[in-house]
Amino acid sequence: MAGIIEEGRARIYFAEPAKISKSMGVFYNPAMKQNRDLTVLLLDSAGKASKPKMQIADPLAGTGIRSIRLLLELGKSKIRSISINDNSKAAAAAIRRKLKINKIRIGSGKGGGKIRISAKDANIFLLESTGFDYIDIDPFGSPARFLDAAAQRIARGGILAVTATDTAALAGSSPSACMRKYWAKPLRNMFMHETGLRILIRRVQLAGMQYEKALIPIFSYKGQYYLRAFFRCEKGRIKSAQIYKSHGFIIYCPKCLQSEAALELISKTCNSCGIRADYAGPLWLGKLADASIVAAMLGKSPEEHRQLLSAIRKESAIGRQWFYNVNSVCRKYGIRSPPPINELLKSLRNSRFIAARTHFDWAAVRTDASISEIVRTIKKGYRVGKAGSLPTSLGR
Ligand SMILES: C[S@@+](CC[C@H](N)C(=O)[O-])C[C@H]1O[C@@H](n2cnc3c(N)ncnc32)[C@H](O)[C@@H]1O
Ligand SMILES: [Zn+2]
Repeated sequence: MAGIIEEGRARIYFAEPAKISKSMGVFYNPAMKQNRDLTVLLLDSAGKASKPKMQIADPLAGTGIRSIRLLLELGKSKIRSISINDNSKAAAAAIRRKLKINKIRIGSGKGGGKIRISAKDANIFLLESTGFDYIDIDPFGSPARFLDAAAQRIARGGILAVTATDTAALAGSSPSACMRKYWAKPLRNMFMHETGLRILIRRVQLAGMQYEKALIPIFSYKGQYYLRAFFRCEKGRIKSAQIYKSHGFIIYCPKCLQSEAALELISKTCNSCGIRADYAGPLWLGKLADASIVAAMLGKSPEEHRQLLSAIRKESAIGRQWFYNVNSVCRKYGIRSPPPINELLKSLRNSRFIAARTHFDWAAVRTDASISEIVRTIKKGYRVGKAGSLPTSLGR
């Protein structure tokens, strides 16, 4: 299939490849539409968290679709300039073609300010610049090698966005790759993607701290094939030190599924069953999103992203850095048919716990209840109901 298609307000020439891979060079990837949609939405909703007129950098721009969407969808009032860069020789031509199809003239900048196109290595492009209010690091694979230059060139009050598609490393399939690129130990379990996102966040923050920049997560999430985090940059030694104080570990017991957050790795013994537990980290233990920004995004979001944003908003109010996949819990504790998630949530709330779904896993709950309290709540529902089935209101 080939032809002109639309993404957001942009028009793109698209020829469907047999298989998307790194070796293809510059191409339009429809699977990353969600990533771009949420970028536009975040910059449109960040309010005081972003500068009124931004100098934008797209250092790994590919075909330039992201920048074109920002130009068309954020509009003149938000953009002072936009610098579109990609080191592939084919990219500059593809970007110019795309600007033309979308009737954007370089220089005049319909829908935006000054537009610059370059074909440098992303690090050189960033380091040769005087800095930006928004930098979007969107590579294939790991963003690690672009973080130092991005941290140097993000302005005070600016927003840094980072995508990682090497989820296998971050989520623990390849612990050695995670140690090398992200300087932390991952953990392959039911909440491995959240652990991966927290490891990624800390790694970006370490890059910022060197330059006395505190990179505070304002919105971060797991997409279908990637992890993504947006940070607001604040400057100062004290603020940077505060970031460091929220770096720690998650101790996880594979036997009873109990988890705990710890600032230091003093004891690795499970408090509940006494065995030697496993751990992940160091990682970011703080909030993954700023609830007011997510609420603003939700207010402007099209239907297709509302479920995700609504889940992120609700779960961001629960101060736990992990969640429980209900099927895994039931399997572990010999409970034959897992309860419907909504029933379990209701039941936990009736027992005065806070509980919500999580966007990381639609078959999971995030709650301040411990594993034994969750199991007790599920079993209580069983006793009340008939054998093999669950009552409609669990645990009441
Ligand atoms: C995932 S694609 C970018 C997709 C694009 N941001 C979008 O939203 O559609 C990554 C791009 O980075 C470019 N790239 C890879 N290494 C680079 C480097 N060292 N400097 C600049 N660009 C690089 C590749 O040519 C590729 O186009
Ligand atoms: Zn245990």
